[in-house]
Amino acid sequence: MSQYELPVYTKRGLTLVRGKGAKVWDQSGRAYVDCIGGHGVAIVGHSHPRVVEALQEQAQRLIICPGTFDNDVRDAYLSRLQSLTPSGLDFIFLANSGAETVEAALKFARLATGRSRIVATKRGFHGRTMGALSLTWNQKYRRPFMPLVPEIAHIPFGDIEAARAAIDDRTAAIVVEPIQGEGGVRPAPEGYLSALRELCDESGALLIIDEVQTGFGRTGELFAINHWRVVPDILCLAKGIAGGIPMGAVVTNNRVAEVIQPGHHGSTFGGNPLACAAALAVLEIIQDEELPLQARRKGEWLLDRLRTMESPEIREVRGMGLMVGIELRHRVTPILRRLQDEYRVLALPAGPNVMRLLPPLNIEDEELEEVIRAIEGVLA
Ligand SMILES: Cc1ncc(COP(=O)(O)O)c(C=O)c1O
Repeated sequence: MSQYELPVYTKRGLTLVRGKGAKVWDQSGRAYVDCIGGHGVAIVGHSHPRVVEALQEQAQRLIICPGTFDNDVRDAYLSRLQSLTPSGLDFIFLANSGAETVEAALKFARLATGRSRIVATKRGFHGRTMGALSLTWNQKYRRPFMPLVPEIAHIPFGDIEAARAAIDDRTAAIVVEPIQGEGGVRPAPEGYLSALRELCDESGALLIIDEVQTGFGRTGELFAINHWRVVPDILCLAKGIAGGIPMGAVVTNNRVAEVIQPGHHGSTFGGNPLACAAALAVLEIIQDEELPLQARRKGEWLLDRLRTMESPEIREVRGMGLMVGIELRHRVTPILRRLQDEYRVLALPAGPNVMRLLPPLNIEDEELEEVIRAIEGVLA
């Protein structure tokens, strides 16, 4: 631990030095099954050879290329991503993180509608920069930084009537995660997202879906919105997009694209060729290794094993694909620490009493067995 690092993180008492697939190793050579995966980033596993090769090759050719110049790898990536997003979502801005995609989405929504009111959801998490933090619900993150961006209302997630009451012809957008991650792994109830789509269509507001955590196969579909066949006006993507290299993408429809002009937005590092090369490799891996299918199959197995696990500690098991939450009857932090130190499995919290599992989508079956044995042990 460095005395020079600002103490913004609660430390786990572990120094990680190496990763391969779903395993990471600490300084003394101990291996851990990694169901944190860089907070859901490592969808293709750590140091996937095809990502490493793409990065090595690109690093020798060109690392930075501002958006004022075109670039062969960036163009190839934009075409590839556009071919995979739902029809109508055809325009992309490349950023460097999840929060940055949310910031861009807020600006684009104001531009496209000429309105400034935003509706977000209770338990929602969208990042920690000022705009994204203003959408984020948890008071612990918000309170020290008041006042935040004005005209943002938080409504209960999943409540269509609350959405109907909140969205009107002064609303620029509603911002929602299809499955709340940080807020406890809570999938949108059936019909909720399509009802939001209808409310937005009626009122002229934009539907912004934050798939920073759920995107790129995590939930068993390439994008979680595919489960519900809902197409937003703006889709926010990040985390697993580039195999661990910082990157984000904001994908919009023509309603946004037609109002955007040079100077409205930008980023020094956004769309740099190094990140694009990694992201291109990730899309190929997702396709060749059928990662959404793997996530679905392994997720069903995992959810089934957890739901039939006999432990008085488990209150509820929720999730889709390999985005799994186990709501416990007690605080999760000491349990996560024991899971790490005694069972060598890394998992993360989602609120005070939910254990969250976000393993690589190509985690081995035996490694998942290990995870189940560890959770059984720690919750016994
Ligand atoms: C749904 C969602 N949106 C946005 C973010 C912010 O992403 P980043 O940490 O890359 O800024 C996160 C991060 O966990 C997230 O889960």
